[in-house]
Amino acid sequence: MPLPKAELHLHIEGTLEPELAFDLAARNGVKLRYADTEELREAYRFEDLQSFLNLYYELMTVLRTERDFEDLANAYLARAAAQGVRHAEIFFDPQAHLARGLDMATVVEGLWRALGRSEENHGVSTRLILCFLRDESADSALETLEAARPYLDRITGIGLDSAEVGHPPAKFRQVYETAAGLGLRRVAHAGEEGPPEYITQSLDLLGIERVDHGLRCMEDPELVERLVRERIPLTLCPLSNVRLRTVDTLADHPLPAMLDAGLLCTVNSDDPAYFGGYADDNFHAVRESLGLTEDRLRELARNSFLASFLEDDEGRRAR
Ligand code: ADE
Ligand code: ZN
Repeated sequence: MPLPKAELHLHIEGTLEPELAFDLAARNGVKLRYADTEELREAYRFEDLQSFLNLYYELMTVLRTERDFEDLANAYLARAAAQGVRHAEIFFDPQAHLARGLDMATVVEGLWRALGRSEENHGVSTRLILCFLRDESADSALETLEAARPYLDRITGIGLDSAEVGHPPAKFRQVYETAAGLGLRRVAHAGEEGPPEYITQSLDLLGIERVDHGLRCMEDPELVERLVRERIPLTLCPLSNVRLRTVDTLADHPLPAMLDAGLLCTVNSDDPAYFGGYADDNFHAVRESLGLTEDRLRELARNSFLASFLEDDEGRRAR
């Protein structure tokens, strides 16, 4: 039986399995440049974050209708439930969809068709987190937030993702301030490929409550001390880090050192269709490769609920 856990770092577009990509391509008359799922899987060898993002943005062109987003989310929720996930805080990238002519309603209403019934259908509670693409402009982020206004009853928070290096958090100060004023929770990818300063900036300028990845904090002892002192959760994604070559092998992952330092770490799957595993696959992988004890694994599962945006009572029920 997998440990009950919350998943806090999951891009819904990154759950698009090759089989579903081909099904949706056929349904929508979209031509993929791969002959079949096998040939597509062959393309899943990444050099770095950007080489993954290129494929990630290319494949999401098969998503066109509300039903597509609903099917995508339901497929993820079913897999997550089977892996012990009781609560999922799900990222989505509306700018990538708006840029190819979809509207915000198609994306949010489609996802909501699955998320709104997830507790009854899958036994998984959910939250939705709108991510801004950091390689797009600050104005584009502000426009996206405006487009999302009619749907804010379904959106819990905002995040920041896509190509990190060269796109410092400071660029998004205004949109984070506006979002905070609207009562939205705030997270951001930082310290995945980018330097520790991006983590510090995200805390100081964007007011984030959780750091997505945050791996490179380990290069700055004072930052580690601060993250421990302020109990800022990190949403780590071990299999992602190996596939995107942020660490050489899983055995080199700093998770044990991070736990020893007292950091509030969680383990998540990021883009599981691309990186070889869902939530419990990541738990299993760190247990095997890093020799984490059962106590440590339970600590990680407990942290995932502590670090979630569930209200206290709901958090107790989900556990
Ligand atoms: N978008 C989807 N997955 C991502 C990741 N791991 N880092 C940054 N942006 C992403
Ligand atoms: Zn991510």
